[in-house]
Amino acid sequence: MKGIHRKSIKLAGAILTLGFCCGITLSAQNQLSTINPIQESQHNLSLNGNHYQPVQKEKIMPFKLMQLPYSKDALAPYISKETLEYHYGKHHQGYVNKLNALIDGTPLANKSLDDLIKNESGNIFNNAAQIWNHNFYWHCLTQANSNKPEGSLLKAIDKKFGSFDEFKKQFKEKASSNFGSGWTWLVKDKNDDLEIVNTGNAGNPMTEGKTPLLICDVWEHAYYIDYRNERGTYLDNFWHIVNWKFVEKNYEK
Ligand SMILES: [Fe+2]
Repeated sequence: MKGIHRKSIKLAGAILTLGFCCGITLSAQNQLSTINPIQESQHNLSLNGNHYQPVQKEKIMPFKLMQLPYSKDALAPYISKETLEYHYGKHHQGYVNKLNALIDGTPLANKSLDDLIKNESGNIFNNAAQIWNHNFYWHCLTQANSNKPEGSLLKAIDKKFGSFDEFKKQFKEKASSNFGSGWTWLVKDKNDDLEIVNTGNAGNPMTEGKTPLLICDVWEHAYYIDYRNERGTYLDNFWHIVNWKFVEKNYEK
């Protein structure tokens, strides 16, 4: 009887040990099954059968060249198709390529263009701001020009500058005096007060808390094919292709 009793105790112990081990295994499986998609992504894991395995992270270039809102010959004769091919297709594309190369594999690859402009400096700021400025410039132009703004924007221009013609005169003077490469802007401040400002190189008035309404690119690459060194003629013809509906929306935001 004593022998049978000892065997019973050993069998019970074995069952308990087996149950304990199974419990740990089940517990571990439950933990794996509770990894949510976000955690999975953070740990760069993928479910393959019952096992999580590392996956090759797909290379994503965060910024792409925007699509033009019109054809490349739409702004002719004031801005030619050839200028669009170089300005948009080479210069603008170049800023996109350079920024992507600079931020590839860094935490900055997850940032927005606005974040990079407001918080970065040097080459990253320069290329990010040039992408933003050119995006804005293309949207400020159109073949369906309405000659002048309307509504609250026209009232604000009249109030600030005296008349629309006087605004155009002051804008041209400001753009003509922008030494070297840069941009000329119509902006509004926090009180909706209008101002014409110049920025050099890739400068953007958002860094000073101002809201861009209208932009004119006065880098030579914007006009040299069509106007050579005649920036003034480029500026005179700029008014034929301003998208005032877009500028009005920027003011009313
Ligand atoms: Fe440009």
